[in-house]
Amino acid sequence: MAKKYLITSALPYINNIPHLGNFIPLLRSDIHVRIKKLQGKDVLYICATDESGTRTEIEAEKKHMTEEQYCKIMHKKFKEILDWFSIDLDYFGRTSSKSNHELTKEIFMDLNKQGYICEKEVTLLYCPDCKRYLPDSYVEGTCPHCKTPGAKGDQCDACSKFINPEELIEPKCKLCGQKPTVKKDKHLFLDLPKFSNKLKKYIEENKNFHGIERNLPLAWIKEGLEPRCISRNLKWGVKIPIKGYEDKVFYVWFDAPIGYIAATKDYCDKNNLNYKDYWQNKDTQIIHFMGKDNVPFHTIIWPSELMSNKKWNLPSRIYSNEFLNYLSGKFSKSNNRGVFCDDVLKLKYNSDTWRFYLSSVLPEGKDSDFEWQEFMDKINNELIANYANFAYRIISIAKRFGEITPLTEEKLNKSEKDILKKIKENIANYLNENTRGNLKEALRNALNVSSLGNQYFQENKPWELIKDDNKKEEANHVLWFSFSILLNVSLLLHPFIPTKTKEIINLIAPGFSINNALKDKKPSIINKNITITEAKPLFAKIEEEEIKELKKKF
Ligand code: MF3
Ligand code: ZN
Repeated sequence: MAKKYLITSALPYINNIPHLGNFIPLLRSDIHVRIKKLQGKDVLYICATDESGTRTEIEAEKKHMTEEQYCKIMHKKFKEILDWFSIDLDYFGRTSSKSNHELTKEIFMDLNKQGYICEKEVTLLYCPDCKRYLPDSYVEGTCPHCKTPGAKGDQCDACSKFINPEELIEPKCKLCGQKPTVKKDKHLFLDLPKFSNKLKKYIEENKNFHGIERNLPLAWIKEGLEPRCISRNLKWGVKIPIKGYEDKVFYVWFDAPIGYIAATKDYCDKNNLNYKDYWQNKDTQIIHFMGKDNVPFHTIIWPSELMSNKKWNLPSRIYSNEFLNYLSGKFSKSNNRGVFCDDVLKLKYNSDTWRFYLSSVLPEGKDSDFEWQEFMDKINNELIANYANFAYRIISIAKRFGEITPLTEEKLNKSEKDILKKIKENIANYLNENTRGNLKEALRNALNVSSLGNQYFQENKPWELIKDDNKKEEANHVLWFSFSILLNVSLLLHPFIPTKTKEIINLIAPGFSINNALKDKKPSIINKNITITEAKPLFAKIEEEEIKELKKKF
């Protein structure tokens, strides 16, 4: 059986509309999936909303809704945003689903049976003012490890170490600012030290774990893992199925990754498939995309959860990204800093425009910045000048020329054969960069092919050839080969700007199948007649004035 891929993007928290920085794993995974499909691979692409936890309880209360009502509305909003951006998920699930509750309990019971769960008495922070236990994100204090102030109750942003809320130095309730009191309570822990050796072996032996995905967990294991508390004093979440824990639910990071399996199951149930073909069949590779702050959870906690029982597939590969900042600072909804996905839907630019800009500044290898000036420059000078104008110029000339008859490869001259060779090299690099998770570089390769096309077009001047009745054949040849280059550029750009490229491909090569097009890693050549009856520019240039306005607005 051919290999299958299950590809996921980190499940976004239901209570924050993503800003463009949060959107990066979704965009990268979507591009990666689309490139795999060009290669003819069997891919299932899954995401879901991450709904458990304190934040949801508080946001729902603020809006005078039940958690259920609130999550339903927010899930719909997320779905709209993803659709608008052409994030081509096979399934967008929810961690509040029945399947996630069931699978979480099943995996927990397995872990418990194998002796991987322990119980401990802990001191918890309780805010007497808000009448609430203060886990995770609702308590802030100084990090006990690196001593940076402003650390959250579960993880420090500065050193990314895990924190148990009661360890925070000088804790404060984030809702009312008061100092919380301390209460003692029994809680459940995932006994991470028991996984140390297995985790070490799993990561060391997996050749696909590079950089932070390899170094971070190995360093933590070396320092010594500690048991991780997986229960919380909340109502909204997955109930803990053992005696004495009736008033608690699982910690959000315990049930969230299981949401990957649950969403797969929900998809499979609806499509008469078996989710075990993805999660228990060793021919399937599980690939996760996420921001770098999610790496500890996906390389330590998540594989440990799956190791309870030898049947589950472990992640084969993790692609994490660095952060996209807004004008060298952080995005912040409360300070109205930066562009959020819901804002984007109201602006005049289409999703391809946003996808192209973000793709060209992806924070891969290092952090990057969102800049309005650069937004304009990338769109005008690369997307439009390199690709869109190339397409528009050939199409306009072809419209004047009339029907173009396809030729075969033998008819190519030396310089055209050279171009095909260069396209082939760019295709090979493009696919390699995609495998390595360097999508920004893959985009470079696609644009290289576009530059080759522009150069060919410029040198052969088809606009002159079509005027000369004695050069009909030559004009046909040049236009046909230009269109063939355009087909290749459009295929390579398709994962980045799916909407416009699909229009172009349908126009110049009707019936051409995008899936599988790069299966043989070879350039494609148009082999049918081309008739163009209409020509219009693909994108509108962005004007200086617009950018001024946008800078003011955001
Ligand atoms: N909600 C988390 C975040 O936005 C990511 C959860 S990923 C999963 O940081 F693995 F838990 F699903
Ligand atoms: Zn710290």
